[in-house]
Amino acid sequence: MTMIGGSGNLKKTPLLFLTFSFLVFMIFSVRYNDHIVSFFDRGQSLSQHLKVTYVEPNRPPNAEQVGLHLFSTCNSTKEYSGRRIRPAEGEGGGESGRGNVGSEECDLTSGKWVFDNVTYTLYEESECPYMSDQLACQKHGRADLAYQHWRWQPLGCDLQRWSTTEMWEKLRGKRLMFVGDSLGRGQWISMICLLQSAAAEDKRSITPNSPLTIFRAEEYNATIEFLWAPLLVESNNDHPVNHKLEEKIIRPDSIRTHALKWEQADILVFDTYLWWRLGLVKLSWSDDEEGEFEELGGLAAMELAMETWADWVVTRLGPTKRVFFVTMSPTHHLSQDWNPGSKGNCYGEKEPIRSEGYWGSGSHLPTMRMVERVLGRLGPRVSVINITQLSEYRKDGHPSVYRKFWETLSPEELSNPSSYSDCKHWCLPGVPDVWNQMLFHFL
Ligand SMILES: *[C@@H]1O[C@H](CO)[C@@H](O)[C@H](O)[C@H]1NC(C)=O
Ligand SMILES: *[C@@H]1O[C@H](CO)[C@@H](O)[C@H](O)[C@H]1NC(C)=O
Ligand SMILES: *[C@@H]1O[C@H](CO)[C@@H](O)[C@H](O)[C@H]1NC(C)=O
Ligand SMILES: *[C@@H]1O[C@H](CO)[C@@H](O)[C@H](O)[C@H]1NC(C)=O
Repeated sequence: MTMIGGSGNLKKTPLLFLTFSFLVFMIFSVRYNDHIVSFFDRGQSLSQHLKVTYVEPNRPPNAEQVGLHLFSTCNSTKEYSGRRIRPAEGEGGGESGRGNVGSEECDLTSGKWVFDNVTYTLYEESECPYMSDQLACQKHGRADLAYQHWRWQPLGCDLQRWSTTEMWEKLRGKRLMFVGDSLGRGQWISMICLLQSAAAEDKRSITPNSPLTIFRAEEYNATIEFLWAPLLVESNNDHPVNHKLEEKIIRPDSIRTHALKWEQADILVFDTYLWWRLGLVKLSWSDDEEGEFEELGGLAAMELAMETWADWVVTRLGPTKRVFFVTMSPTHHLSQDWNPGSKGNCYGEKEPIRSEGYWGSGSHLPTMRMVERVLGRLGPRVSVINITQLSEYRKDGHPSVYRKFWETLSPEELSNPSSYSDCKHWCLPGVPDVWNQMLFHFL
């Protein structure tokens, strides 16, 4: 009672006053909810908005339009207008016709991890010259190495056995490009590490880190490339190193500058997820004035980006191209998910989770549903590499403290390793090798 202002004796309060308070309360809550739903839109999907106006995506910018870059500023935000991307209709014919390759032949998503130190690892960490210090866990002191030796065993069938020479034959004369965030980059590094040993040292090369980084193998006339585009559409975070996580601004109706880079690739592998889980996103529509932007929650903003990307798939994708979409990569930030009552994270975890169908808080299911909706409309043009469930089991697969950290760690952090553990990315060799094995299986 004292908590609501110490007016201890409610019974004596006049009815009129109670009614008045109730009305004030109602008005406040309606306004409050309104504010949340229509302005901040936390966790809501776009379909929960009432008013809708459709925008044609990927149209040429007007002459005055300034591109988005790291120093784009936002002076103030305004209410979300309800603008959406006009949905492009693919061959999906609805949400059921999902283009999940291999779904008829074999469901790779349900299965279990089997310890197999005979077949795995597929390469040695120290033998891959392209390894990233962010993912080289053994080099950074990880002593328990079982994480390198697990094989993914689907329930009703086998994942095609990895073959480096066969993969090179599939890639001969082609450009394979990964597009996305640091998880996509990890998968790209895994792919290079899986393949590099069969490419003559003097006939392979890699370009310096830039938005588009290219590994080339002359013998096969093939490239394996990575394009940094963590939010798919154009954003103020398209620089490969300098990022502005605290203020994410996207151009929801345009991926043109990215698409120009990826349109020449033969095989495209997209991923995007975690950046949308980090708070609100500002929208700078192509015809907006500089400086004043709408704002949305991550899920709704991601849906806009996915729709713009889907429009590109339907209107611009050449008939011979292969397109894959990698589903969300789970994080393991809360050990209470798999060990109720505990207070840690992935730090110290040495074994996969065994409970079948395990699903933790690091996978946002509304995001999965939204991705399914968008991919469902596209039909067989886009193949899903559904890594979420199998990666969910791998709480042991993250670098935790065994990686290079770019920022200096404080003594407090150092004395409490779980406080700075990386439970997002994946050690290599490790889980992303299996994602690539799935790609190999489908190609
Ligand atoms: C594989 O693992 C088993 C069980 O942990 C162990 O006994 C064996 O020595 C390992 N073999 C290799 C080649 O590491
Ligand atoms: C190499 O591949 C490209 C396509 O990526 C093709 O246009 C070119 O003709 C190929 N060159 C040779 C020598 O095969
Ligand atoms: C936003 O702020 C910048 C610098 O603070 C200023 O140059 C610009 O004119 C402002 N834009 C608007 C629309 O107020
Ligand atoms: C991925 O697989 C999970 C089951 O493991 C399923 O619930 C989800 O719908 C699938 N996602 C897509 C986009 O197909």
